[in-house]
Amino acid sequence: MQARALPILCSGAAMHEGKPGSLRLRQLVDVESSTISYLMWDSETKEAILVDPVRGQVARDTQLISELALTLVAAVDTHVHADHVTAAGALRDATGCLSMSGAGGAPCVDRALAHGDVVQVGLTQLRVLSTPGHTPDSISLAGAWFVLTGDALLVRGCGRTDFQNGDAGALYDSITQHIFTLPPETLVYPGHDYRGHLVSTVAEECMYNARISGKTREAFVTHMRSLVLPLPKHIHEAVPANLACGDDPSASTD
Ligand code: FE2
Repeated sequence: MQARALPILCSGAAMHEGKPGSLRLRQLVDVESSTISYLMWDSETKEAILVDPVRGQVARDTQLISELALTLVAAVDTHVHADHVTAAGALRDATGCLSMSGAGGAPCVDRALAHGDVVQVGLTQLRVLSTPGHTPDSISLAGAWFVLTGDALLVRGCGRTDFQNGDAGALYDSITQHIFTLPPETLVYPGHDYRGHLVSTVAEECMYNARISGKTREAFVTHMRSLVLPLPKHIHEAVPANLACGDDPSASTD
């Protein structure tokens, strides 16, 4: 079969070649909420960050961090989640790490991340991309060969925009201006997956993501507004708990 040309939305320049570097990445799945957490660490300095940690998985995650002899320096949430309670507060208490999330999100964090900020993981710098739309505070984290997209861009899908001040137009702008402009071979690591996908690439999503591929902004907004989706099971407990970094004892979704 002949390879298809990249659609016009995919405007990223080819990735320059470089050393693979010392950053390591491990995916950790919470089956109940279909959340994918990301443990990233520097193989030389052993400093680590955990992105979108789930409170019910603290024992699993801290055991892995201990077994790998890592020092957790930050727990980072890509946004205020509606479907699970973050482990940011629990990890801060257990390890002394900082908690971080997108600016305008949870007020309890030690560091609010804005577009262009850098999150340091040992010798590696991750760039913060402001990617609102699913929620106003949503961020993505870009490394040299990958991007963690939270719930902005999912594999063959995207985050919903019908609650938590979601904005379909803003999501279209975030995906097309900040994610699809990355080099086509950039690996896309989503915050959730419900069908067993764990990773994709910018080129694949540009071409095959039916939510947005080839769509105008107007068509995307119309499509998102037409979706009728049930509320997440734990939204009423999870959102208030996550605004408190998961420290709200009345939340019991674990
Ligand atoms: Fe979300």
